[in-house]
Amino acid sequence: MRLRLFGALVPIGLGLLTLAGCGNESQGSATGSQNDIDPERVERGLTISPVPLNLEGKDRNLVGLGSYIVNAVGACNDCHTNPPFAAGGNPFAGEPEQINTDHFLAGGTTFPQAVSSNLTPDESGLPGGLTYEEYATLMRTGKEEDGEILPVMPWPIYKGMTETDLRATYEYLRSIPSAQPGTTP
Ligand code: HEC
Repeated sequence: MRLRLFGALVPIGLGLLTLAGCGNESQGSATGSQNDIDPERVERGLTISPVPLNLEGKDRNLVGLGSYIVNAVGACNDCHTNPPFAAGGNPFAGEPEQINTDHFLAGGTTFPQAVSSNLTPDESGLPGGLTYEEYATLMRTGKEEDGEILPVMPWPIYKGMTETDLRATYEYLRSIPSAQPGTTP
């Protein structure tokens, strides 16, 4: 009885696997579990990005998810844009919010222990000049190449991101405009 039931379930299981496989192929990318990416986050992310995005050669789903994480959850702008808001656009002062798009994520904010890094793409398109492997190591371990530990950066929190989420933040940083650090007036 149990065996026969199992026999009947196998073809259904195979059918589902085939369907899942087709879904993967239609994504047309080798980056992995992008079928799991929540389309609502992707669209929200693409909508709220304060800067125009260069999607050429990028995975749109990852960029959208990355923007969602960077701009709606991660608060990267708070420390990596100097100053975070444009003149007259500081929501903490009751002004209508306007992100400092000219220097978005270009670093230069001074903290007692460190100055925040420029995360925008360099001449070769690498965000902050980092390969994905270097970026992932920094985000997951907080360790720089020389073994120094990144202060201030909330990497002890960010390190818990899934591989897809972390990749998405990198893909987003790859797609924002290059910029120079701003200065605090
Ligand atoms: C509380 C402030 C703060 C927040 C929030 C923050 N960072 Fe940072 N981050 C820093 C500072 C400061 C440094 C520079 C540390 C140093 O050089 O020692 C840094 C460094 C980095 C580096 C290393 C760059 C390099 O080349 O060494 C990366 C990558 C990075 N941040 C990414 C991010 C991302 C992505 C987010 C949002 C998900 C984020 N940071 C949010 C403060 C912050």
